Amino acid sequence: MKTLTLVTDLRKELQQLRSEGLTLALVPTMGNLHQGHLRLIEEARRHADRVITSIFVNPLQFGPGEDFDSYPRTLEADCEKLTAAGCDYLFNPGVEEVYPKTQGEPTRVVVPGVSEGLCGHKRPGHFDGVATVVTKLFNFVQPDVACFGQKDYQQLAVIRKLVVDLAFPIKIVGVPTHRSPDGLALSSRNAYLTADERRKASGLYATLKATGQKLAAGNTHFHELSHQARARLAELGFSPEYVEIRSPDLGPPQQNANQWVLLAAARLGKARLIDNLVVHRDE
Ligand code: PAF
Repeated sequence: MKTLTLVTDLRKELQQLRSEGLTLALVPTMGNLHQGHLRLIEEARRHADRVITSIFVNPLQFGPGEDFDSYPRTLEADCEKLTAAGCDYLFNPGVEEVYPKTQGEPTRVVVPGVSEGLCGHKRPGHFDGVATVVTKLFNFVQPDVACFGQKDYQQLAVIRKLVVDLAFPIKIVGVPTHRSPDGLALSSRNAYLTADERRKASGLYATLKATGQKLAAGNTHFHELSHQARARLAELGFSPEYVEIRSPDLGPPQQNANQWVLLAAARLGKARLIDNLVVHRDE
C-alpha cells in the first residue's frame, strides 16, 4: 500500500492510474479502523480496480466540547489492517493540507433538509463539516465510486443529496452495518465504553429491534413507539438523545407505507452511540 499525505502527490499518482484506464473507489474514514471499515474496503474492491482509503480526523465536523482531541488515532495499526485488506492507497493528509489558511473561515458546504433534525439537531454544524470534507475528498481523489457505512444513515443521506446537487459523477455505495454477535454496531467510539457499559450497549439495537417488530406488525402509533423506546433505553442505563421513526428518505413517516426507518442516538458513559433499523411491514 502506498501512503500519500500531500494533495499534489496524490493527484500525480491518480493521474497515472487514470491514464492506464483504471477505476478508483474511495473509502473515507477517520481511522481507528475496525471490521466495519474493512467491510467498506471489501465492497470498494468489488466496484473498482483500485481502492484508496482516506484517514483524516476532520475538525470541522466536531462541535465545541466534542471529542476531536481525544478521538482515537491509531495510524500504525490502521496501516497494517489496510494492507492486509488489500487497500492500494492511503491518503492521510494533515489539517492544513485539507484546510489551507485562506482569508477568514474555510468555505463550507451545506446540504439543507436532510442535514437538519436527528443528529443534525443534536450536533449543530456537524453535517456541514461532513459535507465540506467529503466534497474536498471527492475533489482531491475524483473517485468513480465511494463507499460509506449505513450505520450513519443520516450522513449517507446527506452525501447522496450532495452528490446529486453538486453533480459529482460518483457512484455512492451504502454498505450494511457490521455488528458484534450481541448486535452492537461497530464504531470507533465503542472504544470509550467501559466493560460494564459495553455489556449494556447491545440494548440499543435490541430496543430498535423490539420497536421494529411492533411497527412491522402494523402498530403505527409513531410517537408512542418512540416514547416507549426512549423509556426502555433509559431503563437500560442509556441517556437517550432521540428515537425517531421516519420514512426511508428521512421525511415524516407515513401510516400507509410499507417501509420505515427507526433511528436512535443515546449516550452511555462517555460514548455517544447511534444506530438505525430499516423496517418492512409484515406481509
Ligand atoms: O463517517 C466518517 O467516518 C466521517 O464522517 C467521514 C465520512 C469520513 C467524514 O469525515
